[in-house]
Amino acid sequence: MPTLEHSQAPCRIVVLISGSGSNLQALIDEQLENKLLINIEAVISNQPGVYGLTRAQKHNIPTHVLAHKDYLDRASFDKALANTIDSYQPTLVVLAGFMRILTPEFVRHYTGRMLNIHPSLLPKYQGLHTHQRALDNQDDIHGVSVHFVTEELDGGPIVIQAIVPILQNDTVDSLSKRVQTQEHIIYPMAVNWFARERLAIQEDTVLLDGEPLDKTGHQIDSRTT
Ligand code: GRF
Repeated sequence: MPTLEHSQAPCRIVVLISGSGSNLQALIDEQLENKLLINIEAVISNQPGVYGLTRAQKHNIPTHVLAHKDYLDRASFDKALANTIDSYQPTLVVLAGFMRILTPEFVRHYTGRMLNIHPSLLPKYQGLHTHQRALDNQDDIHGVSVHFVTEELDGGPIVIQAIVPILQNDTVDSLSKRVQTQEHIIYPMAVNWFARERLAIQEDTVLLDGEPLDKTGHQIDSRTT
């Protein structure tokens, strides 16, 4: 496995949030454990007052609030957002519960260097209310995916998925808690791979250490781990 040389600078990351930031916390913990690998340069929220901002401030990470309501339209918000992100010259942009649909121009600007986490086994259940939809359909399994962001909403090449069983009597709350536990494992893992330059994209296939992954990405099955 390629290792990061001590002389190599950590991967510069900007994290975008809209809420509690538990995935941001998992990345902060990864940074604390693995200082040479990643550095979270800034956290940007489109919602003022969310707990994710507090989490960042506790670790002296610069924060910005860009309230989308203050902008005339989606394009002007995305332009301001890209300007703020780019002022930190990130190698990677991480969407961690960022609840905004992004313009194609914005997405294209970060092609191959923007990741998202989505609480379902994509391509199943793109969009919202994924836990409820999995329960309504009486699925046996559910889960979470980390993928590169493309113009298709929740549709980019998948890096990694974790499978979570749906148990009898599961509710949205109980199921989402078990999914989140897996989120906090697989997102740092994917970011870690990116930072170590182990990930690449060829057309719409993700390569890990030069080997193509399945369309569903690397899979972790929490039923057996
Ligand atoms: C997560 O469930 C993630 O899958 C989804 O938004 C939620 C963010 O949670 N995209 P948090 O703010 O990281 O706690």
